[in-house]
Amino acid sequence: MTSNTAQQDAAVADKAILANSAYADGRHLAARQSVYRWQQPQYDLPGIVLEELAGTRGIVLDVGCGNGKFVSRLHKDRPDLQAVGMDISAGILADVEKPVLVADAQALPFADDSAEAVLALHMLYHVGDIEATIKELARVLRPGGVLIASTNSDTDKQELDQLWARAAGDVLGIPEGPARVSLSSRFSLEKAPGFLGTAFRDIRVRELPGTIEITDPGPIVAHLASYEAWADQSGVPFHETVSRASEIVAAEIETEGTFKITCRGGILACRP
Ligand SMILES: C[S@@+](CC[C@H](N)C(=O)[O-])C[C@H]1O[C@@H](n2cnc3c(N)ncnc32)[C@H](O)[C@@H]1O
Repeated sequence: MTSNTAQQDAAVADKAILANSAYADGRHLAARQSVYRWQQPQYDLPGIVLEELAGTRGIVLDVGCGNGKFVSRLHKDRPDLQAVGMDISAGILADVEKPVLVADAQALPFADDSAEAVLALHMLYHVGDIEATIKELARVLRPGGVLIASTNSDTDKQELDQLWARAAGDVLGIPEGPARVSLSSRFSLEKAPGFLGTAFRDIRVRELPGTIEITDPGPIVAHLASYEAWADQSGVPFHETVSRASEIVAAEIETEGTFKITCRGGILACRP
């Protein structure tokens, strides 16, 4: 587990960095999503969300929808729902199926009790005030509606944290370099029920453990490089560290045949 400094936490929730750099387009998010192709077991995340929405009719707001992985599946498999994609980044919404809105989760342009369901998938760790945002999501939900949130555990992808610290150490000429910036630690799977419990009484957690085994350094290196927006927070020359990590991964694949990453994600279905 890596834990951020206060300055790193502030950068992870910095709206300008998020909208103009980290998620200015879908490239970095797609790099992080792509490694799950090699995960066992495979989880159909949009399918799990669809299961949770089985009894839902009407408006579904996908807040922080990113590149639209979830809204596109809702449009395809549940055309009866009015799914709306929302994100703080206009750039990432460019290719997302309409309707979409540039909107901040902290001040949604929707009336009280107007949505049947709200999705906040892998995004609550990016908002400035997590507790106030959860209240805001609860405000737009009609009584009896469902909030579906997701995030990663503090122990998710530890092998990438170790790889980064080793590569950073090599670049700096010390045994172990600074820890990788953590995106999800502000709202990790361990912390999520406590935050969500401030506005929801019934919280069901579904853990999604798995193992990724990759035989090509490319997707792993792209995953590390996808943190470029926070390069100035890494305490080490970022691109040199990515290059050194690439060499370490290639050597491990050469000797072990594969590079293994342990994944611990989870989805939380929350009702008032
Ligand atoms: C890690 S991505 C997750 C995308 C998508 N929900 C998924 O699970 O594939 C986080 C997304 O949340 C968006 N985001 C971050 N802070 C936000 C905010 N305050 N309001 C709305 N969207 C935000 C980012 O721009 C980014 O597209």
